[in-house]
This record gives sequence, C-alpha cells and structure tokens, in this order.
Amino acid sequence: MIINKLVNTKKMLIDAKNGKYAVPQFNINNLEWAKVVLELVQEEKSPVILGVSEGAAKYMGGYSTIVGMVNGLIGELNITVPVALHLDHGTTVESTMAAIDAGFSSVMYDGSRHTIEQNVKETKEVVEYAKTKDVSVEAEVGTVGGEEDGIVGGINYASLSDVEAMATTGIDSLAASLGSVHGHYQGEPDLQFDLMNEYSVKIRLPLVLHGGTGIPDDMVRKAIEAGEAKINVNTELQTSFTKGVRRYIEEEKDKFGTGYDPRKVLGTYAWPEIKKAAKLKVELFGSKNKG
Ligand code: 13P
Repeated sequence: MIINKLVNTKKMLIDAKNGKYAVPQFNINNLEWAKVVLELVQEEKSPVILGVSEGAAKYMGGYSTIVGMVNGLIGELNITVPVALHLDHGTTVESTMAAIDAGFSSVMYDGSRHTIEQNVKETKEVVEYAKTKDVSVEAEVGTVGGEEDGIVGGINYASLSDVEAMATTGIDSLAASLGSVHGHYQGEPDLQFDLMNEYSVKIRLPLVLHGGTGIPDDMVRKAIEAGEAKINVNTELQTSFTKGVRRYIEEEKDKFGTGYDPRKVLGTYAWPEIKKAAKLKVELFGSKNKG
C-alpha cells in the first residue's frame, strides 16, 4: 500500500493558474462518492480537491470521520495524484478551525455575509492558524448566488477594493464572485470576464469559480483564460447520481434476485453516472494529465 498523504492546494493552484487550466473541486457526500471521484482522477491523472460543506460533514459523521475515510481510500486505492481535502464555505472561524484540527488540508472561510472589514479580520485569524498547520485558505468576497446546503443568496459582484483588501490577508486563493450561482442557472450565466481578468492580474492569486454546474463550456474556457484556477462542481454530480438511481428503480431492477442490494442499487448506474460527469469536467477544465 502506498502511503500518500493529503496535500494543500497551494502548489496545485499556482501550477493551474500558470498553466491556464483549472483544478476541479468535486463535492462529496459519502464513501462511494469519494471513492468514485478518486478512481476517476487517478485514471485521468488529474489533481483534485474534494469539497465538503458543513452540512455534508455533519451528514457523513463529522470532520475526522471524513479525514479517516479519505486517507484510507488514498492508501487502499493507491491514489498517487495530488488530493486536497477542503472545507467548502466554512461559516464561522471556529468551525473552520475545527476542520483544520481534524486534518483537512485546505479550508474555505466564507465571511462574505459580513462587512468587508469583518470578513478580512476573521479570514486573517483563519489564515494565521492555518499557516501553523500548512493548510491552504480560500476566502470569498462578493456573494455567489443561488442555494447550497440551505444557504440562499443573491449575486453580489465583488469590487476591486474588496478583492485587494482580502488579498492582504495571506490567503492562497480567492472566490471573487462575478456572477456565478450555486445550483441551476436561470438563463445564461452573466459572468464578468473583464473583472476576472483585472482582479487576477492585480492580486496575482488563483481565483476560484463557484457554481461550476450549468456554465456553458465556452464560458468555462473563457473564465480559465481570465484567471480562474479552481472550479467547484456539486449540483451536477448530485443530479447525475439521482439520474442513475431513478433509472435503476424505473427499470425495477430492485425487484429481481438480489437487486435490492445497495451495492447494486447504487453501483449499477449512479456511480458510473457520477464518474462520467466528473470525467467531462476534468477534460473541460484541462486538468487531465496535470497530476
Ligand atoms: P454547483 O452546485 O453549482 O456546482 O456549485 C458548487 C460550488 O460552488 C460549491 O462551493
């Protein structure tokens, strides 16, 4: 068994920004979800960031359960590509630090609902703590629209002054919201590519594009060109999963033989559907063979 450890996102995102591709963040919801994503990125030789929201962490039994699970999978499956385990949208300094203490290699502290002064101050607290453990930190300015894990918000475009203020905190990457939303878009996304480009050049940090589901391919390529080095995908894997489960039940496969076995219920279509969706993203983001 290879002993390969979780890594932070520092090197992978700098390499991505310089190489004009994006590292995918795939949010995970359980053991098999993590397993199938890890198998896919190993096949594709892509670096990966496994995203875990606070809600998903609770669902899976807490931060340290997830750290144990992911480390176990990396070892047992001989995963050799770089893997970061990342807290998605940490809502409080305490909860974000708890993820660091449990062994996450990367965290996002999302203070975007606060004033910029408070957001900067609290992000700085997280950064100082994270540095002592070699954990990378992502922050957010402006707000991503839509809904994720019960957190609902409208789009607020990030301003240059907020972006510059946040860049002084020592963060490793920045989610500067420029029109993306969590979940499904209503109509075409209205992404501000000029601002992406301007912020990316001015602060020289890798930018993070949240709301990776439903952005047309040409816009994704344009966003990467404009400096987005990490793209988060959650909803699309969830809908792929559900599509697979629905097909299994609609075909009534559960009614024959041992078709009720959860390994068959989920393994026949749902995990392959997730793998297919993740593969398309890896190819689109250009991270294939970059791990
Ligand atoms: P989607 O659910 O729209 O793919 O967004 C994911 C995300 O940004 C996680 O932070």
